[in-house]
Amino acid sequence: MNAKRSTGGRTHRFGGDWTTAKLDVIARYLASYTTALKDKPSEEHPFVKGYIDAFAGTGYRDARRDDRSEDASQALLLPDLAEAEPQALLDGSARLALKTAPRFDRYVFIERSLERCAQLELLKQEFPDLAKDIQIRRGDANSEIQELCSKDWSSHRAVLFLDPYGMQVDWTTVEAIARTKAIDLWVLFPLGIGVNRLLTKSGDIPESWRRRLNLLLGTEEWYEEFYRSESTPTLFGGAAERVVKASTETIGRYFNNRLKSIFAAVADEPKVLRNSANSPLYLLCFAAGNPRGAPIALRIANHLLKKGTE
Ligand SMILES: C[S@@+](CC[C@H](N)C(=O)[O-])C[C@H]1O[C@@H](n2cnc3c(N)ncnc32)[C@H](O)[C@@H]1O
Repeated sequence: MNAKRSTGGRTHRFGGDWTTAKLDVIARYLASYTTALKDKPSEEHPFVKGYIDAFAGTGYRDARRDDRSEDASQALLLPDLAEAEPQALLDGSARLALKTAPRFDRYVFIERSLERCAQLELLKQEFPDLAKDIQIRRGDANSEIQELCSKDWSSHRAVLFLDPYGMQVDWTTVEAIARTKAIDLWVLFPLGIGVNRLLTKSGDIPESWRRRLNLLLGTEEWYEEFYRSESTPTLFGGAAERVVKASTETIGRYFNNRLKSIFAAVADEPKVLRNSANSPLYLLCFAAGNPRGAPIALRIANHLLKKGTE
């Protein structure tokens, strides 16, 4: 069950333990990132450092169910989200970034919903010292990020968080991020919530689902990776063919390997975010973009991803 509360005209609904786990990793990474760069002499780190939140929400933990109703086909794919536990009013990723100390130089919040953008605007009043460095962009995360990434990144570094509900991220966006060689990426991969459901047991996949998977994974080759044909002898001397679908483990590894093919370094063990029935909903993956910064970024990310799983 989700909880709904009203605070000063702002209504929020909150996710369960996996949301806490996710945001805990992000908040700790942001603090480690700005701390690690704080003491660097300016000749060693002459970069403007930014935080980019591509599915920013409201600043507080968000209204997942409301969003599901926007798209009926997506709603069918997201029943697990309904069972999140009610929680107290808690910070979402945007507020956590604004609270990070030492601070970032710039903050970019991207959000498709007009109403949520208005709520993000209120953060400027809550964080007046940071207000002039907060940019709120209303639009589609894929096109906004691709535009941002096409700029000159030679004097910039950033941490970017892609936190979609479902299958909204296009692989071309992930490629654009990697090409900057300046951005560390945290991305939520919709393993159980989306991909595993579109991959039917029989292997017959409707064309529109195939297209969505192609966009998410950036290739059409996934079918051969996720399905194989197995032949078993029958009692009458012939053979019966059956299709065997890959495990969620294989599907997750496939995406992580896709990240490895384009980033300087990628965490080997993404965090599996599970619902209360222990089913995997998402993978929280990390990829470091800058080859020089990658070893330390990866060390921090690996440490955070491991926490709570030991
Ligand atoms: C999971 S919530 C983000 C939660 C947020 N990161 C937090 O911790 O509070 C996803 C958000 O993405 C927004 N959204 C959905 N599709 C989008 C798109 N294509 N482009 C930008 N924002 C989108 C939704 O309105 C919603 O606020």
